[in-house]
Amino acid sequence: MPTLLVTGSNRGIGLELCRQYAAAGWSVLAACRAPSAATDLNRLRSESLRVIELDMADPACIRRVAYDLRDQSIDLLLNNAGVIGTQSKSLGQLEPEGLIEVLRVNTVGPLLLCEALLEPVSRSRRRQMVAVTSGMGSIGDGGGGYYAYRCSKAALNMAMHTLARDLAPRGITVCVINPGWVKTDMGGPDAKLSTEQSVQAMKARLDALRIEDSGRFLDYKGGEWPW
Ligand SMILES: NC(=O)c1ccc[n+]([C@@H]2O[C@H](COP(=O)([O-])OP(=O)(O)OC[C@H]3O[C@@H](n4cnc5c(N)ncnc54)[C@H](OP(=O)(O)O)[C@@H]3O)[C@@H](O)[C@H]2O)c1
Repeated sequence: MPTLLVTGSNRGIGLELCRQYAAAGWSVLAACRAPSAATDLNRLRSESLRVIELDMADPACIRRVAYDLRDQSIDLLLNNAGVIGTQSKSLGQLEPEGLIEVLRVNTVGPLLLCEALLEPVSRSRRRQMVAVTSGMGSIGDGGGGYYAYRCSKAALNMAMHTLARDLAPRGITVCVINPGWVKTDMGGPDAKLSTEQSVQAMKARLDALRIEDSGRFLDYKGGEWPW
């Protein structure tokens, strides 16, 4: 049974990732920052779905989780947790702490988690590290505003692209995937996709992931996004 570790698993896309991977027979390590308050996620608990505490803004917490999982085998490390940054969206509102907080969660945390879980991923059969990014992190795609979010996702893309090169000798596939515009707290009610639709499409892409895909910016529905 392959193992998935997914961050930000208590709601939105992360919760649906847990549902669909568990239903497909995977062993799921569902990471979230407040397990005791994760009502929907706790309903999914089973022998093959374990809930673990992980705050992506806290490097000490990342190190602790990596220590606890040091003997595990993790086939797919899926960095999904993210924040859009309620402050530092528009010109005239920018402030350093707001910008840095978004970078901490969306960029620094995922990179540190990949580094910390290198051995458990290396010893797995699939050896895959994927981050849920956004079309808003694409320079080629354009668009204005949302400074903190766009910068954090563009930097996440670079971090994962660099990991893809550095980890190629270890046979690890590293890529980023755009989930589309999804109805969640972040995506809002006008989004085009339900979490079920987005995750179903992303899972199909990730199920077919090969080492040749390493370093790619995948789109949930097929094809690639411009960097
Ligand atoms: N929805 C969209 O349209 C869309 C489009 C493109 C990309 N994305 C990306 O998809 C991913 C999931 O987004 P979503 O739409 O599901 O958003 P969401 O509904 O707002 O959920 C965000 C998740 O991230 C978690 N999170 C936030 N800060 C965290 C931290 N410091 N440590 C651990 N977990 C933290 C949240 O946990 P708490 O409940 O504890 O806050 C929650 O589980 C994000 O990376 C987002 O950027 C979403």
